[in-house]
Amino acid sequence: MNLLSANLFLFVLGIQGIQFEPSTVGHVVSEIKDRYSAYIDFKGTADHSAAISANETEAQILPRQAAYWYESIAHQGISAFGPSGYAVYRNVKDYGATGNGVTDDTAAINAAISAGGRCGRGCSSTTTTPAVIYFPAGTYLISSSIVDYYFTQLIGNPNSPPVLKATSSFSGFGLIDGDPYYTSNLNWGSTNVFFRQVRNFVFDLTSIPATSQATGIHWPTAQATSLQNIVFQMSSAAGTQHTGLFCESGSAGFMTDITFNGGIVGASIGNQQFTMRNLIFNNCVTAISQLWDWGWVYQGISINNCQKGIDISAGGSSAQNVGSVTLIDSSITNTPIGIIASYTSSSSPATAGSLIIENVVLTNVPTAIQLTGGSTILAGTSGSMTIAGWGQGHKYTPSGPTQFQGIITPNSRPASLLSGSKYYVQSKPQYNTLPVSSFQSVRSGGAAGNGVHDDTFALQQVINNAAAAGAVVYFDAGTYLVTSTLFIPAGSKIVGEGYAVIMSSGSYFNNMASPQPVVRVGNAGDTGQVQWSDMIVSTQGAQAGAVLIEWNLNTSGTPSGMWDVHTRIGGFVGSNLQYAQCPSGSQNTGTCIGAYMSMHITPSAAGLYMENNWLWTADHDIDDPSNRQLTIFSGRGLLIESTAGTFWLVGTAVEHHTLYQYQFANTKNIYAGFIQTETPYYQPAPSAPYPFTSISTLNDPVFPTSCQTSTPCANAWGLRILSSSNILIYGAGLYSFFDNYSTTCSNNPGPENCQSAIASVEGSVSQVHVYCLSTVGTTDMLLRSGSVVAVYSDNNNVYPDTIALYTA
Ligand SMILES: *[C@@H]1O[C@H](CO)[C@@H](O)[C@H](O)[C@H]1NC(C)=O
Ligand SMILES: *[C@@H]1O[C@H](CO)[C@@H](O)[C@H](O)[C@H]1NC(C)=O
Ligand SMILES: *[C@@H]1O[C@H](CO)[C@@H](O)[C@H](O)[C@H]1NC(C)=O
Repeated sequence: MNLLSANLFLFVLGIQGIQFEPSTVGHVVSEIKDRYSAYIDFKGTADHSAAISANETEAQILPRQAAYWYESIAHQGISAFGPSGYAVYRNVKDYGATGNGVTDDTAAINAAISAGGRCGRGCSSTTTTPAVIYFPAGTYLISSSIVDYYFTQLIGNPNSPPVLKATSSFSGFGLIDGDPYYTSNLNWGSTNVFFRQVRNFVFDLTSIPATSQATGIHWPTAQATSLQNIVFQMSSAAGTQHTGLFCESGSAGFMTDITFNGGIVGASIGNQQFTMRNLIFNNCVTAISQLWDWGWVYQGISINNCQKGIDISAGGSSAQNVGSVTLIDSSITNTPIGIIASYTSSSSPATAGSLIIENVVLTNVPTAIQLTGGSTILAGTSGSMTIAGWGQGHKYTPSGPTQFQGIITPNSRPASLLSGSKYYVQSKPQYNTLPVSSFQSVRSGGAAGNGVHDDTFALQQVINNAAAAGAVVYFDAGTYLVTSTLFIPAGSKIVGEGYAVIMSSGSYFNNMASPQPVVRVGNAGDTGQVQWSDMIVSTQGAQAGAVLIEWNLNTSGTPSGMWDVHTRIGGFVGSNLQYAQCPSGSQNTGTCIGAYMSMHITPSAAGLYMENNWLWTADHDIDDPSNRQLTIFSGRGLLIESTAGTFWLVGTAVEHHTLYQYQFANTKNIYAGFIQTETPYYQPAPSAPYPFTSISTLNDPVFPTSCQTSTPCANAWGLRILSSSNILIYGAGLYSFFDNYSTTCSNNPGPENCQSAIASVEGSVSQVHVYCLSTVGTTDMLLRSGSVVAVYSDNNNVYPDTIALYTA
């Protein structure tokens, strides 16, 4: 599909001069109040305990707005490896933006983003110029796109989300353009756009004539990215041409707490995979138009008063573009057609359009699912009904393939994972009701964050003091080098600025025979809660014994949480694991073993909610202008061996670890969706587990020694489940694109032989269920106790191969 026509929007430029009246503070406040009565749907959707009530006076509103802690805290964040004097934090008002709703703030906002030699046009990617662009409350009039540079967070005041208000003559591809078409190509390769956020905004398109094409945000994006707490306000007039979210490509990603009001399409989206949660669509012509995908999870979607709900019919029955979709815990109301699909028993590719629906309430939806062209696949109702379980595609229950379309038995959901009938969810806390005095800065506490100074002692002191005082630890932007384990006790709340980095270094972490955690959360037997968000854990140089995150904490009651916390092993300045040290194919086992394991959830741990986490061993150098590929060894990805279980993995990805990406062993009660993996590009040269060995006490997989001489075999597992129960996976993409850096083994539609098998269920299990399992580059999609369950050639999809339903 050619999506380049999208860039035509760009060339419709022509900004006119507009006269503005002078502003007053009173004008701004009354505007904020007006806005809040206009965007009433916004209230209550998310982290809004301090939102404005219609009956509040200006005197009540203003002090509270000023009190948002992040606006008033001392801004001491740095880029450890960036230009000298480089500013991470930028308040748009310091760059001349007024937020008064009448002056054109476009140039000022773009200046705040681009200042300081950042990664803009023509730059492939970088970690050295991160920026947080902060928007105080106000209405920011814009006449052309705000261009979101690489490694940028755009953050509004969550207590009174700023409005980005397009002028009537607005031109540009998105009020925010996340990846411009300066040429016929996107400026940044969409699958390499990492480490960005946009949160707490209202996008107001309503001054743009309804009949003009307009887009709220253009968002081609990859892992470690998020949109949160956003309203798209579009015209609901007949013939409206407004679209809220437009995404044509990428390998993402996560977004949550977004309201789309009006428009021809709320979200028009294509990407390899995504997890989208708590999206509300009101009065859109079509709520969601799925351009293409491999796999997708929609969780907690609410579609109200639209003409069509979710359209996954792209390409039609003979050439479908949508691989698979999983829709759960959602509702569709007062909408004539719930879902439009192209899948039939003879549609093509064979498993494209795979769909699983679980716990979806329809109210006044006369047609639940319609086949493109008109016939009804599943009748709806003018009253109310709940789709407990429904699906289409190929199933293996446990053997197959069996083509199916119709009712399925939904998962039996463990009570410990639920809130009401739905899976428990919790958005990333922004601590917006806390005063700035509740935060303790690590730099104020003596940590340097410059990537050189040993910050272990200073960090530990701040963390201990904050936990004792009930305060939040604030990691100012920076890279904090540690030479021994950092301990996070129960009761800690930790939040980073601009993805502050904890980076291990030195001999303590470089003994493969004696692995050590870089960050240890609780000790075995500890109970309590920890919240941690917006940070990265990394290693520097050879760290063959580094376990980047070890989670021991046993949480009952409100779960612990880890939001937008990532591991990043190599591929950035300061890591000493870049192209100069570890070029692709180099096999430097002396200097390029970057980690022992990314994250270990130990037997004593329980009750952790993980959202939008990317555990990444670098396959390429982000700071190399040509993004050249790397060979970095890291033993294991995410290991969960909690005996009590109770984990939520909402929008997680684990990539390029040597033995496996996800391993669940002797555990239970896990919700996981969407999970995404990639096998190391170098394998099988050398084969797994080299340069590591299989450790039986960790339940490591054992690889046949014969693989050292015959290929393809002995590659990392994407997903391995051992002797576990209630492992409920809602969407998985397990990808093996390379064989010794060549992609000929994964070029659809075959031969799909980069590796022989990628997922394995072993031992005695109960209720191990997988919805919409997609694989790339593997001959066998799934093994059960060593026997082949499914082969790729039976399950061909748009690019991957897909099983809609597997029950072990
Ligand atoms: C303002 O409105 C809220 C509900 O929106 C109500 O709980 C509160 O009592 C009202 N306050 C006053 C002073 O009327
Ligand atoms: C976790 O804590 C709960 C209650 O505090 C306790 O009942 C349970 O045994 C603990 N689990 C583990 C694995 O220690
Ligand atoms: C891997 O590829 C490199 C470069 O093409 C080649 O020299 C090497 O022999 C290959 N290794 C194996 C085991 O195929």
